[in-house]
Amino acid sequence: MNARLKPYKAVIFDLDGVITDTARYHYLAWKRLAETQGVHFDEAFNEHLKGIDRMGSLELILASSPRAYTVEQKLALADEKNRHYVELISTMSPSDLLPGAVQALDACRAAGLKIGLASVSKNAFAVLDMLGITGKFDYVVDAAKIAKGKPDPEIFLKAASELGVSPADCLGVEDAVAGVASIKAAGMTALGIGDPAVLTQADSVIPGLDHFTETP
Ligand code: G6P
Ligand code: MG
Repeated sequence: MNARLKPYKAVIFDLDGVITDTARYHYLAWKRLAETQGVHFDEAFNEHLKGIDRMGSLELILASSPRAYTVEQKLALADEKNRHYVELISTMSPSDLLPGAVQALDACRAAGLKIGLASVSKNAFAVLDMLGITGKFDYVVDAAKIAKGKPDPEIFLKAASELGVSPADCLGVEDAVAGVASIKAAGMTALGIGDPAVLTQADSVIPGLDHFTETP
């Protein structure tokens, strides 16, 4: 078995920014929304939104606005962002899988490990379908199955329990600071995807899933 996978019985992947580059589309959709509200929005601010659910992200953006918003106005803004996001992802296909994503999933399968997906996105199943990889997961936890988003550990704990594996035997794979925090709070090992200077809580960090099967 691949040395990275040897200590584990399950691997639980995040979706946006790990399997496919939808993190970019979330960024573009939030940026446009923020600017309609006169809120400055850049890549550095976006880093705090990665892995955070839709309403939580909106609250963080509107915190920089001097305006007060009613609940109805907030829901309308969240819908507007989602309509733009759905438009941006509407042409996605298996060609939008990030390099190494399918190979990483197949390496887990070949090693006899359970494979989970933990995404707080309400669009997770639609994205998996467009990528053509829904069948590669033993269990998918999306926004509908949890009460608390990342960095709360609930989503990774739910995935582990549905997979029938103890958290200590799970490797979580995440590109977001909040996601890595969720994995660690769940008592799992965290493999970060991205920059080690950003994902400081991760046990190890690789630039992308194309490095997944390298020996840690
Ligand atoms: C993922 C992304 C976040 C996004 C969240 C909710 O965790 O990393 O950037 O805000 O999903 O996505 P949704 O598709 O439900 O708006
Ligand atoms: Mg992510």
